[in-house]
Amino acid sequence: MKLMSIAGARPNFMKLAAIADAVKSYNERNVTLSGCTNIKHIIVHTGQHYDAKMSHSFFDDLGIPKPDVNLEVGSASHAVQVAEIMRRFEPVLLKEMPDALLVVGDVNSTIACTLVASKINYPVTAKRKRPVIIHVEAGLRSFDRDMPEEINRILTDSISDMLFVTEQSGVNNLRDEGVPDDKIHLVGNVMIDTLQKQLERAKNSNIKQLICVKGMYGLVTLHRPSNVDSIETLQPLLETLIEISKKIKLIFPIHPRTKNNAKQFNLFSLVEECPDIQLTDPLGYLDFLNLTSTASLVITDSGGIQEETTYLGVPCVTLRENTERPVTVEVGTNYLIGIDPQKILQTVEKILTGKGKNVSIPQFWDGRAGERIIGKIVTSVDCLY
Ligand code: UD1
Repeated sequence: MKLMSIAGARPNFMKLAAIADAVKSYNERNVTLSGCTNIKHIIVHTGQHYDAKMSHSFFDDLGIPKPDVNLEVGSASHAVQVAEIMRRFEPVLLKEMPDALLVVGDVNSTIACTLVASKINYPVTAKRKRPVIIHVEAGLRSFDRDMPEEINRILTDSISDMLFVTEQSGVNNLRDEGVPDDKIHLVGNVMIDTLQKQLERAKNSNIKQLICVKGMYGLVTLHRPSNVDSIETLQPLLETLIEISKKIKLIFPIHPRTKNNAKQFNLFSLVEECPDIQLTDPLGYLDFLNLTSTASLVITDSGGIQEETTYLGVPCVTLRENTERPVTVEVGTNYLIGIDPQKILQTVEKILTGKGKNVSIPQFWDGRAGERIIGKIVTSVDCLY
């Protein structure tokens, strides 16, 4: 079987790592049993994220095979970025004609490649009409259609053939949208597979020495357009961080979007000069995991970090009004707070004074999601298309 996987932006890479590992293990088992490998895995990088710190370092840290193809699309408006990925991806798909196309998450690369695959027509002589489309991390919904990722999630799920889901809410959402049960597979979380596998290595990272961090600290990430693209939201958020830093030192690896905007709004010096906020460039996977795992709390508007902190048992203050990952609030360490400064400060205070909540790890977040996914793919793909 020829399986093609798409990687585009930073949050895709840790998910792809688990898939690549599971394919490798499956092939190794097959060589032992029957003398041949079964899956040829082709990796296509769209180039949506292209900086070494946002992309290559993840491939190195996680041992992901070098992409077979890089579409090198780079940054642009959503329309241009999606259109450009589609335009450049179509000939690659027609050349390789994989049996299955696997996409992860909810970024622009995810929907762009799914859309191409759903409409492609392989030549009549080919074994199948088009690839089976597999979406990993399907079914998540924030019910907030102002989020570009929500549009990407809804559209990708609606044209995928196999939907692999991380938590029960995803199954419920897909059923509510009329997706038949035989397309939906609750398998757990590939991002947690990668986290489990890398945690020991991450502990050896020397990032704390490099940035001279001693004692307790909070870790901050901020990049969601609704938070950072206007001065009206970014300024109070940065001021709140400065207030929090008076209680606990903050480490803030700053996303390029946030840095560019802060500079444009003349807010950058505010945080840069704050003595208890340590700004860094975006960090590699192992360095960031090292800092997350020993943080007193994490303040973020990311999707994936809500899940990683839940697995690690680290309190997470999420600066959003909604989450597509409700299990992290229901059983995990996540506090869904929004961007009201008073609420953020109160929640941080509650966490720092030890009044946290009892938590547990969601079902199937056990390091074996990739194995379940590949197991299901090899038994199903030949029956589809
Ligand atoms: C994208 C994803 C988002 C994900 C985030 C993680 C979509 C719709 N959004 O948002 O879901 O959480 O990645 O980072 O796909 N830039 C660089 N170097 C890079 C990449 C980007 O400098 O390697 C800068 C550019 O100025 C670019 C801006 O960051 O315009 C935003 O990048 P883009 O990929 O458009 O969206 P993200 O905000 O990163």
